[in-house]
Amino acid sequence: MSKGFEQLTVLEHPLIAHKMATLRDATTGRKIFRELVREITQLEVYEATRALPLESCEVVTPVAPMTAQRLAGPAPIIVPILRAGLGMVEGVTDLMPNCRIGHLGMYRDEKTFQPVPYYAKLPDGLESSPIFLLDPMLATGGSASAAVSYIKDQGGRDIAMMCIVAARPGVTTLLEDHPDLRIFAAAFDEELTPTAYITPGLGDAGDRLFGTL
Ligand code: PRP
Ligand code: URA
Repeated sequence: MSKGFEQLTVLEHPLIAHKMATLRDATTGRKIFRELVREITQLEVYEATRALPLESCEVVTPVAPMTAQRLAGPAPIIVPILRAGLGMVEGVTDLMPNCRIGHLGMYRDEKTFQPVPYYAKLPDGLESSPIFLLDPMLATGGSASAAVSYIKDQGGRDIAMMCIVAARPGVTTLLEDHPDLRIFAAAFDEELTPTAYITPGLGDAGDRLFGTL
């Protein structure tokens, strides 16, 4: 489902819907919350990597030789936005253990809701690698948009964003700033609260992952 945005894919799958219900539940504790973020990310990887290039390779099965297919080109690069994006990393590396990992540190100013960058370490080869930006929450879109701008400034071209909950205002802003971006989300919420939290959302993802409530 694209919710009116050509570049947005909201995954529709019974397993994701079921896991999202528990993830959103305010009574779900840290252990289960972390496991669910990882599992939902795994399911999202399946869709987000659909366009990765393949090449032919020769394989000999116990029965006969055959031409099979394997991933081609440079290993994908994933870039979690600290902190909450870290919760999604293992969901990707479970399925793509060869990927490389960059880190962007960014937090939202509590009053202005503007992103404040505080750390950046990206691998080289950004120009030629598929890049997946990871952050569970796309609220106003400010953090994700600043992250994409930074990755592009460093040479990144083929960039997709993976999140857990995308809010309409965040998707709108992010695609206005970066119309070439593809966005994958496990759920879509229409609104933000006056303090720029996604509603109904799931609360503060970083606090729920790391126990800093
Ligand atoms: C959260 C979230 C995103 C950002 C989304 O991070 O993980 O990075 O807010 O909001 P936006 O779309 O309005 O920019 P937060 O600032 O809470 O930092 P944390 O991950 O360290 O908790
Ligand atoms: N960051 C979060 O963790 N949750 C929100 O709802 C908005 C920003």
